[in-house]
Amino acid sequence: MIVNPDIETYLKNISEYPHPVLKEMEELAEERSFPNVGPLVGRLLYALVEFGHVHTVLECGSGFGYSALWMALALPENGNITCIEYDARNIELGKKFFEKAGIAHKVTFLEGDALEIVPTLPQTFDVVMNDIDKDRYTKILPELLKKLRVGGMLITDNVLWKGKVIEENPDDRTRIIQEYNRQLMTEENLWTTIIPLRDGVSLSIKLRGK
Ligand SMILES: C[S@@+](CC[C@H](N)C(=O)[O-])C[C@H]1O[C@@H](n2cnc3c(N)ncnc32)[C@H](O)[C@@H]1O
Repeated sequence: MIVNPDIETYLKNISEYPHPVLKEMEELAEERSFPNVGPLVGRLLYALVEFGHVHTVLECGSGFGYSALWMALALPENGNITCIEYDARNIELGKKFFEKAGIAHKVTFLEGDALEIVPTLPQTFDVVMNDIDKDRYTKILPELLKKLRVGGMLITDNVLWKGKVIEENPDDRTRIIQEYNRQLMTEENLWTTIIPLRDGVSLSIKLRGK
């Protein structure tokens, strides 16, 4: 754990939920050992969408919609989140949770590999969230940046990878995350900051071309 566990517990204990369905989703994730972003990152996502007056979000690797629901709850009534997920059972569950939360009209689920679907999307988005398999992070990055509007934000989960990013002889997956972080930090038209919350979340703003 990157954050002191007692601090994590404290933060969780003082945090309110914008909708009770999120709690239900967390219980399911716990039961299945499913790696969703958790409530602290969820709150951050909510804050970013709310503060940025975001209307459109693209999420790659949505699972059963937990992180997507946090963002969707902060979207305006006419906002939309497009969720790409390659497991059809997760999508079915996700649709049910969005219905239960009363905001199914804000979500579009697309089934398949994000690497194949993203290049076919016709529009750009205010926010793009990347949470796919970590060994595909560097491969998908250029495609995600093409779909991010100037001034928009790319959010990526797990960029500190349980702290393994500081290892000198990392495994292949860790090496890919290290390379991904290097690209985020050195790409000329991106301004990136990494927040050491939970498993590390990066926030990258797409700058106007210089
Ligand atoms: C870490 S979980 C996502 C959790 C979700 N973002 C949340 O916090 O609620 C990663 C999900 O991405 C999906 N996934 C991984 N690689 C993918 C890809 N290339 N295309 C589409 N879905 C992918 C997996 O099936 C899994 O459900």
